[in-house]
Amino acid sequence: MDSMLGYYQAKSALEWQIELGADEAIGDDALNRYELVREKPKPRIATKPAPKSKPEPVKAVDIDVVGLAKSVAAAAETLDALKQALADFQHCQLKSGARNLVFSDGNPAARLMIIGEAPGRDEDREARPFVGRAGHLLDKMLAAIDLGRNGPDPASAVYITNILPWRPPQDRDPNTAEIAMLRPFMQRHIELVQPDMIVLMGNISCLAMLGRKGITRMRGNWETVQGRPALPMFHPAYLLRSPHAKREAWADLLSLKAKLGE
Ligand code: URA
Repeated sequence: MDSMLGYYQAKSALEWQIELGADEAIGDDALNRYELVREKPKPRIATKPAPKSKPEPVKAVDIDVVGLAKSVAAAAETLDALKQALADFQHCQLKSGARNLVFSDGNPAARLMIIGEAPGRDEDREARPFVGRAGHLLDKMLAAIDLGRNGPDPASAVYITNILPWRPPQDRDPNTAEIAMLRPFMQRHIELVQPDMIVLMGNISCLAMLGRKGITRMRGNWETVQGRPALPMFHPAYLLRSPHAKREAWADLLSLKAKLGE
């Protein structure tokens, strides 16, 4: 394997091989590794020592990644430009482990913007948010209050995005530094879409946009994000694992419908 590969690239290359059916780490030709160990290293030929040059002092370059994220995000005048700015942003490790940038889906003119957490395997493959099991449940939840991501009418349409545009390794939660560097992109995203209201799906979205988590207590209580009403809700992936919580989710959907009707 190319030693220049980063950790996440090497990991996703291995995962890809496993998906193709490779299940044993063997090569075509037998290799006796004991013989390799016994081979003595060749003696070095003595050469004239090279003239000593003074080592260059290594300068630590501190990049203000969050400041940089703020300035590139603020410079984006359109959603396409913002997507491109994210694609060009080289300071988030998550990018190197993901197949695709997952930016958004739905109608950018929609009154409602839904902010999820992060792409999973299906989203990473299709480069669209919420297309796996949790996404199907989300579509059903929205349909129950006459909303849908494909609606041309802004009143019944939704616009969907995620805090993380790249799938994290092993679907782990983002760390504080990752949230801090991606938040300016989400803030700009909201400024460009200008939704009337926002749904924060799950703890990561609450943490990124409200600075705190605890979805069980927070859900159902309207908050404010960038001057807009924002409703924390249980994430559909949580509802799949804990169907008993669908009751609260239904109450939150009704609250959302009522707010849209105001
Ligand atoms: N969960 C999310 O939060 N977002 C997706 O896009 C998929 C699953």
